[in-house]
Amino acid sequence: MKNRFNNISSKEWLPFQKSWFLSDSTETLYEKHIRFFIKYDDPEHAPTLFYYGKNKESLLRVAEKNGARIVSGFDEPVQYALIDVRKTVQEIRTIEEWETLKAQILSMAKQLYPLLTPKRFITILIPNHFLQDHYFPAAWDLAYSIATGLSLKDEKIGCLPENTDPHFENGIFYVINFRKDDRANGRFESETIHWETAPVSKKECFPRQWGIIKPPPRDKTEILHPAKFPENLIKDFISFYTRENDNVFDPMTGTGSTQLAAVQLGRNAYGTELSSFFTRIANNRLQEFLSPSLFSQKTEQPDYKILNKDARDIGKNDFPAFDYIITSPPYWNMLNMKGAENQAKRKQKGLRVNYSDDAGDLGNMEDYDRFLSELVNIYFHLAGQLKPNGYMTIIVKNIKKKGVNYPFAWDLAKALSKKFVLLPEFFWLQDDINLAPYGYGNTFVSNTFHHYCLNFKKK
Ligand SMILES: C[S@@+](CC[C@H](N)C(=O)[O-])C[C@H]1O[C@@H](n2cnc3c(N)ncnc32)[C@H](O)[C@@H]1O
Repeated sequence: MKNRFNNISSKEWLPFQKSWFLSDSTETLYEKHIRFFIKYDDPEHAPTLFYYGKNKESLLRVAEKNGARIVSGFDEPVQYALIDVRKTVQEIRTIEEWETLKAQILSMAKQLYPLLTPKRFITILIPNHFLQDHYFPAAWDLAYSIATGLSLKDEKIGCLPENTDPHFENGIFYVINFRKDDRANGRFESETIHWETAPVSKKECFPRQWGIIKPPPRDKTEILHPAKFPENLIKDFISFYTRENDNVFDPMTGTGSTQLAAVQLGRNAYGTELSSFFTRIANNRLQEFLSPSLFSQKTEQPDYKILNKDARDIGKNDFPAFDYIITSPPYWNMLNMKGAENQAKRKQKGLRVNYSDDAGDLGNMEDYDRFLSELVNIYFHLAGQLKPNGYMTIIVKNIKKKGVNYPFAWDLAKALSKKFVLLPEFFWLQDDINLAPYGYGNTFVSNTFHHYCLNFKKK
């Protein structure tokens, strides 16, 4: 197949499509982007590059090496724009300073828009950031505004080696890609979003920002569920946010991974699950683990209760108050999307491809806004049963559906900020799935192999 988008081979194309990467030097990072997003031998469009950032020397070196020419000012056509505000954002201390920088970037995007070759990209490199002791999602905030003029295609997560450093703010950064396509209009209205932030102490922030987690092969009951999360991931969160005998809750239990991880750590475990089929599986797994022969080393068994119930109907007397909630909702109705590769494989093996056909199943809701607001209402309702200063972790993904990007993780965090304080996010990274060559030769489409673990504290 002819490559009309750039000059790289399929061997170089495919790894670039993975939605996260272990960050190399800035120079290598720039080079990979220039090689991917610029075609240097296109007879109709010059290989021109717009750059904003503090590493111009690195950029000049790799641009020259790869046949790209840097334009200065806003008076000639641009094939690709790279805006790197990682360092600039880290110097910002107040929301006013942030608004000034955001206005500058928006004005730059507005001027670039008419010059940008149709179907081509602007990439922005930016971290989320503490404004004094308030955790502020600068990357998401900027993306919402830029997306009023350009089409938000997707994001990649740059993972930094400082991950294990207690100054976790250096753990990750976002690489957000926007395209000038049929959905873009060049208007760029600054979206003023009132992220309701509050002070956060560093000791309540999970000490890492990313982890590559390879779950063990699923046993014969776990495989019956189409989207289970790995217990080892959950265990790290439960260990960090709770103590022995605390009460852990999951309103959408699935196969009971949360509860199993909780009792294994000596915490009490509670939950609800809409499907009777999965509720049974979850209860069986718990019973098996807590059977006297396996649990003889403990004198006191943790308490557990999993009810077959719609999470919207949880009553005040169903459970004791929670110290911590950890959960993962359906990722909208993505499991009902036909044609996903994984779905086809499960069908062949006679396994379920969705959770249920129940109308109460949030995974069956067609309308995105309704899905989001129902979900937010569940978490608001649960806030009433979470102890003061209790924590909550929600595992979700941003969603790409029929070429449109729905930033589900950001939308959820934004809505929840009314009742919960946002803490730094953690990324569960997958490295055991084959990359698919989506868009090969035509455009950039990533393979989303990162899940957000959004952390909150009750206000
Ligand atoms: C992503 S899965 C959770 C998987 C689980 N964490 C595990 O590791 O097995 C989401 C679950 O939410 C359940 N669910 C969907 N709508 C629900 C509702 N209204 N109330 C309770 N559970 C619901 C689905 O049946 C599904 O099992």
